[in-house]
Amino acid sequence: MPSVANLVLASLLAFQGANAAVSVDKFVKRQKAIALQGVLDNIGPDGVKVRGAGRGLVIASPSKSNPDYFFTWTRDAALTFQTLIDDFLFGNKGLQPHIEDYIYSQAVLQTVSSPSGTLLPHGLGLGEPKYGANGTRYNGNWGRPQRDGPALRAVALIKYSNHLISKGERGRVKTEIWPIIANDLSYVGQYWNASGFDLWEEVYGSSFFTTQIQYRSLVEGATLAKALGLPCKACGQASNVLCLLQSYWNGKFFTANFIAGDFRGGVDANTVLGPISSFDPKAPCDSPTLQPCHPRVLANFKVFVDTFRHTALYPINEGILSNTGIALGRYPEDTYFGGNPWYLITLGSAELLYDAVHQWTRSGEITIDATSLGFFRDIYPLASVGTLRSRHPAYQAITARVRNYADSFVAVAQKYTPENGMLAEQFLKAAPFTPISAANLTWSFASFVSMAHRRDGRLPASWVPTRGRDKPQVPAVCKAGSVVGTYAPALAAGAPNVTIPCISTVRFALNASTYYGENLYLTGDSVTLGNGNLDRAYPLLSSNYTSERPLWWADVPVEQPGGSGATVLTYKYARRQDCGQGWIVEKEARTVEVPACRVDGGEAVVAEVDDEFIGDGGTPGGC
Ligand SMILES: *[C@@H]1O[C@H](CO)[C@@H](O)[C@H](O)[C@H]1NC(C)=O
Ligand SMILES: *[C@@H]1O[C@H](CO)[C@@H](O)[C@H](O)[C@H]1NC(C)=O
Ligand SMILES: *[C@@H]1O[C@H](CO)[C@@H](O)[C@H](O)[C@H]1NC(C)=O
Ligand SMILES: *[C@@H]1O[C@H](CO)[C@@H](O)[C@H](O)[C@H]1NC(C)=O
Ligand SMILES: *[C@@H]1O[C@H](CO)[C@@H](O)[C@H](O)[C@H]1NC(C)=O
Ligand SMILES: *[C@@H]1O[C@H](CO)[C@@H](O)[C@H](O)[C@H]1NC(C)=O
Repeated sequence: MPSVANLVLASLLAFQGANAAVSVDKFVKRQKAIALQGVLDNIGPDGVKVRGAGRGLVIASPSKSNPDYFFTWTRDAALTFQTLIDDFLFGNKGLQPHIEDYIYSQAVLQTVSSPSGTLLPHGLGLGEPKYGANGTRYNGNWGRPQRDGPALRAVALIKYSNHLISKGERGRVKTEIWPIIANDLSYVGQYWNASGFDLWEEVYGSSFFTTQIQYRSLVEGATLAKALGLPCKACGQASNVLCLLQSYWNGKFFTANFIAGDFRGGVDANTVLGPISSFDPKAPCDSPTLQPCHPRVLANFKVFVDTFRHTALYPINEGILSNTGIALGRYPEDTYFGGNPWYLITLGSAELLYDAVHQWTRSGEITIDATSLGFFRDIYPLASVGTLRSRHPAYQAITARVRNYADSFVAVAQKYTPENGMLAEQFLKAAPFTPISAANLTWSFASFVSMAHRRDGRLPASWVPTRGRDKPQVPAVCKAGSVVGTYAPALAAGAPNVTIPCISTVRFALNASTYYGENLYLTGDSVTLGNGNLDRAYPLLSSNYTSERPLWWADVPVEQPGGSGATVLTYKYARRQDCGQGWIVEKEARTVEVPACRVDGGEAVVAEVDDEFIGDGGTPGGC
């Protein structure tokens, strides 16, 4: 924990450092270079802040405690490489070796078995959000699966593939990179309509951000497949996904998640980050792909931003006018590290506005409708419903003011960026407004670089088809859907030749009363249960836990050595306490007979146990 004196000192730096004194132009120029280096410092094998990280793996942050982010996340890594690939395409040739390493690392990660499952036969392992810094399986209790990762990775790899094709390297794309992309597209096509955890890894359901990037991946995947002369069965799901995407609109804003229970209002940065990840500078504003300049996206932006103008929620925004940018966080109910503004969200909001200006500039007009009127009135009080052409003074005033509005969000990030340019995850919403949570967060740095590209007029390639049958069309009636995918290790890119594991699924059900923050695991002498190493124990789920029935459970795919007859699995239950007070492990081992495994990929439960925890309960650590 930093001392109070350090916090005060840091806050003085934040307010009186050179950053606060320079113009936004100068700040962006200087900080973009710092941010790009900040990203590279966190990528293995040579990143100076992440010694021990595997080749091509993006570590979320060098922070190893409070919080421990010394892992690689599929989402953060893909978003980071989307931006690095952009920077490469804008002329930074030195990034190419990193991009090649990324391709290799992802081919390997796809084959790592995890609590989400394995690549073969059903692709389930692709939904795993997080791996060790060297690419090893992570067994901790976590919000899984997360279904945005494969889509984001496909979009990153497609971007680079399109470049290679333009350089005449079609053959290489086909044999090396397409097999990775094809696995990810298969996953999207098969599971887009199944519940998963959102990008904040907290709620289980359907999530706007995930659906929007899934749609993009299927459309771009179809275009690439066509260029390679290959089929993409999964891509046929695109119009169903587009239909689901529209249904998040509730008349006023996009409800960020469809989740059971209504403990959240649905206002969430998820719906601002989605449109910038799907930005196509040439797409029309009324495109159902929900571009930054779409009336609903602008209306949603206003609802989102206004939520954080309440100074009871965010004292940091006190006294700022409604035409000026503020500090923004994930969602108003957030309590993680106290629920503060995030750099990447404040910067992402600026990016959304720059994107919208580019789209108006390209089309030469701005259409204001009843939905978007409120957004426009904040920055141009005389705005009225209608279409403004580029010569109209109001058009010129609005584009200039929206750009200034975007700059004012950057200025907020600038104000709270310490002198050395290091971007943490969050900064405090109340005095002293200093950085908090993970230091040197890769995603914060990457979001800065991406924002700077758009601010400087560096735009990504177009991806929305404009003609013919490929043009996005929302079906009249939304349909559920799924196509069974085909999965194979991407051998030519360096993946190991994994085969369908020999698995018997056992259902473990355990009665164990726990306090909030305490978790239960299975430990034992088998690969699946972590070979007795508690750090790799298998997590149980509390999803069906009630006070009447304190149930912890999991359907565990037990990997069987050798592969043939029935075996006896030895196990114990272990409680992991909340603040590092140590594990409580059962004293006596238990056993269960596991029937012969199946190699057909069948995941049906073949054995069940019903147990009660034997031993002491835990004590809350109060951390
Ligand atoms: C973040 O970067 C700064 C500057 O390089 C360094 O002093 C600090 O130790 C880093 N913190 C972590 C957790 O990496
Ligand atoms: C990979 O990382 C894990 C977790 O940090 C560690 O236990 C393991 O020893 C590492 N393996 C290698 C090969 O470095
Ligand atoms: C599946 O799709 C249907 C049709 O769009 C939708 O009503 C339903 O909420 C979706 N479920 C999930 C979990 O995506
Ligand atoms: C991969 O493993 C399978 C099954 O063991 C085998 O048939 C195949 O030849 C192997 N492929 C390569 C390239 O080694
Ligand atoms: C827990 O709830 C899920 C969803 O209702 C159900 O499918 C599963 O069988 C339950 N697990 C146990 C062990 O009862
Ligand atoms: C677990 O609790 C439930 C409900 O209280 C009970 O029916 C069941 O018998 C218990 N199981 C064991 C093994 O104690």
